[in-house]
Amino acid sequence: MRLERTAPRSYTPMTEEERRHRAESTGGEPVLDYGGGNGSDSTAYIDYHSVDVLLGLQHPRTGEPAELSFYITGQIQELLFKLLFTEVNRIRDLLFADDVDDALRYLRRAERVQRVLTTSWEPVSTITPTEFAAFRDQLGSASGIQSYMYRQLEFALGNKSSRMADPYKPVDWVHQQVVAALRAPSLYDAALTVLHRRGLGVPAHHVDRDFAEPYQPHPSVEEAWARVYRSHREHRDLYALAEALCELNQQYAQWRYTHLLTVERILGHKPGTGGTSGIDWLRKVAEHRFFPELLTARSTI
Ligand code: HEM
Repeated sequence: MRLERTAPRSYTPMTEEERRHRAESTGGEPVLDYGGGNGSDSTAYIDYHSVDVLLGLQHPRTGEPAELSFYITGQIQELLFKLLFTEVNRIRDLLFADDVDDALRYLRRAERVQRVLTTSWEPVSTITPTEFAAFRDQLGSASGIQSYMYRQLEFALGNKSSRMADPYKPVDWVHQQVVAALRAPSLYDAALTVLHRRGLGVPAHHVDRDFAEPYQPHPSVEEAWARVYRSHREHRDLYALAEALCELNQQYAQWRYTHLLTVERILGHKPGTGGTSGIDWLRKVAEHRFFPELLTARSTI
């Protein structure tokens, strides 16, 4: 497995008591000796965050200064996709365990992660067409559309498509992860299970489905969400859940539109490195929304 090379170095943990003694001995000032001791060529900070590995992973292919902004933003977003994917799965599991309160707590964090994702476009949006053209050829056929973390995130949120999992087949260890996310229940599947258990009229066959298949909206689900909104005092936690899911959907759309506007500004109508028409294709996928009945129910309230 590829990730072995990023295995963390070992480091020595410290207790509250030890930290208190140390702060007393320095009079509250920082300890200005970062050495690991015992002949170690590292520091505790490097070891804990694997900083040496992380800062050794930037390999721009040209001397164009703007390439580093593009490169590092891509890496930052991959990390944030991973964080968001992990949080979304945690929230899904809490909903399956009927713990709506804790799910709401983690949904607040997930939304903050999404906001960071959207603002992380800032450096890239300053790249001019001339600067981008100076390193674009080096990308070859590499495109964000191939991001396996992003694809898993889309699946975890409920945008299932086996067609988008198939292209990873030649890279077995990636394909296994993507297929696992495709087959797993999504966050929305978990939310609908809660509605079903609360007797809001969502039938069992609708929640017990083949999770790898694209989700098909159902009138009973629209009616269930509408009931939650109409009787929100009776269903306080589900009302909060519905609004938190809407926020997640909206923040995701914000990321997609900011990407779209950034690409339009840099690339105009040139085709993408991933083989699409570029901006026209991105405009089409930006129209996608998660949790469909949560939006359609609004027309009936
Ligand atoms: C100069 C900056 C960028 C340009 C011009 C650009 C362009 C494009 C284009 C044209 C596509 C459509 C697929 C294709 O044919 O390639 C695409 C898709 C995509 N890009 Fe970017 N991109 C940029 C930066 C980034 C960055 C930094 C990320 C973060 C990892 C990213 C993530 C994605 C993702 C995830 C998709 C697939 C979207 C989907 O399937 O809904 N892009 N990009």
